[in-house]
Amino acid sequence: MATPLTPVITAHWDVPDLFTLDGYRRTGGYRALPKALAMDPDAIIGTVKDTGLRGRGGAGFPTGLKWSFVPQGDGKPHYLVVNADESEPGACKDVPIMMANPHALIEGVIISSYAIRANHAFIYIRGEVPQAIRRVAAAVREAEQAGYIGTNILGSGFDLRVTVHSGAGAYICGEETALLDSLEGFRGQPRLKPPFPAVAGLYSVPTVVNNVETITNIPWIINNGVEWFRLFGTEKSPGFKVFAVSGHVVRPGIYEAPLGITMRELLEYAGGVREGGRVKFWIPGGSSVPMLNEDHLDTPLTYEAMAEAGTMLGTGTPMVFDDTISVVKSVTRWLEFYKHESCGKCTPCREGTYWITGMLERFEQGHGADADLDLLNEVCGHIMGRSFCALGDAAATPYPAAVQLFRDEFVSATRTPVDETFPPAAGYVFSAVGAR
Ligand SMILES: Cc1cc2nc3c(=O)[nH]c(=O)nc-3n(C[C@H](O)[C@H](O)[C@H](O)COP(=O)(O)O)c2cc1C
Ligand code: SF4
Repeated sequence: MATPLTPVITAHWDVPDLFTLDGYRRTGGYRALPKALAMDPDAIIGTVKDTGLRGRGGAGFPTGLKWSFVPQGDGKPHYLVVNADESEPGACKDVPIMMANPHALIEGVIISSYAIRANHAFIYIRGEVPQAIRRVAAAVREAEQAGYIGTNILGSGFDLRVTVHSGAGAYICGEETALLDSLEGFRGQPRLKPPFPAVAGLYSVPTVVNNVETITNIPWIINNGVEWFRLFGTEKSPGFKVFAVSGHVVRPGIYEAPLGITMRELLEYAGGVREGGRVKFWIPGGSSVPMLNEDHLDTPLTYEAMAEAGTMLGTGTPMVFDDTISVVKSVTRWLEFYKHESCGKCTPCREGTYWITGMLERFEQGHGADADLDLLNEVCGHIMGRSFCALGDAAATPYPAAVQLFRDEFVSATRTPVDETFPPAAGYVFSAVGAR
């Protein structure tokens, strides 16, 4: 039997006015807040720790543990920053969460700020989605008017200010320290870590940076508790996940399911591959994680199983590609993105993305040399682990995985421009070197 979908965060997305305060309250919204404000902040941190909730922004770092790094009683202001920059190719879950149910995020923000003893929270939203910025800003205003944000919230003595900030369209500003620089008004470039933001973040004071989906989990955790949360998922990947399935499927969209569901099951929910095609390759979570092929359709979508398969769960937004797609072309487009988005601060990424992209573009035009196949792997090896931030690693990820699975296709591209072979004629059977 297929793993059942488990709508929790997405449970009431069919309520037309869910994005309003009334709509959210009618579905049980803002019931976790008084409960949380009656708790000791450390007890909330302990609860989140016990759930094993892992950050949904890509790296999967345990959220409660991150919160516990914030020094308490240090006499400094603390900040909560919600990372709503979502600019990774293929990632589209945070914007839908903010559009459908902004108050759930805001309730999570208030509770999380109380837990880490922050009196000011920021929601940093990708600049290219003005609808989401307007929707979250309107929800913040409603929450202020209802007394959920402001001074002495619900008579608890806790004060909180929430600022909605618009980014200016740079992918690197999703990297948490670049985001902080951008928020402070500087050009968004990553900072040296350590110190980590939990110790020295925004304006050099303790700051927790968490993803939209991570923070949106919090009201449900407070309402339902640790045991309930752990009913979903696995020991190392507890909970449910907002999976955003895109690409060549019949019904692309949001499917919320326990961690541990497989891609084959998600594909079934999404109506299968379009026009009866088959999966050529798929990517579990944004373009920054290595691709897999049909062999891994039954691998559980958990942090641990994906790592064992040589990839990462990432943002949990799988992209599916059928065999009408050139892997050479796909990887080239992603590298053009990374080259464009490299902030230029460090040499391996700034120069490396330029070189990789140039070589891939030559392949695409049928001008590559056989020796370039291994040279490209070598260049990626010089970027991976040697860049200042994870954008460099991300840029060095797509090609090695692609050439391992589809070497024949890259070899063919050294002789024939990709546009002459893709889309393939009917009856074409692709050859996946690593398959079966
Ligand atoms: C280039 C780059 C872009 C990133 N973009 C995002 C993003 O848009 N949203 C996000 O939550 N995390 C993004 N991250 C990860 C953040 O640095 C950080 O790990 C995350 O916001 C932490 O939240 P979490 O613990 O709740 O996952 C990005 C990282 C890198 C290197
Ligand atoms: S890895 Fe790329 S994005 Fe990151 S600091 Fe270096 S140049 Fe900038």
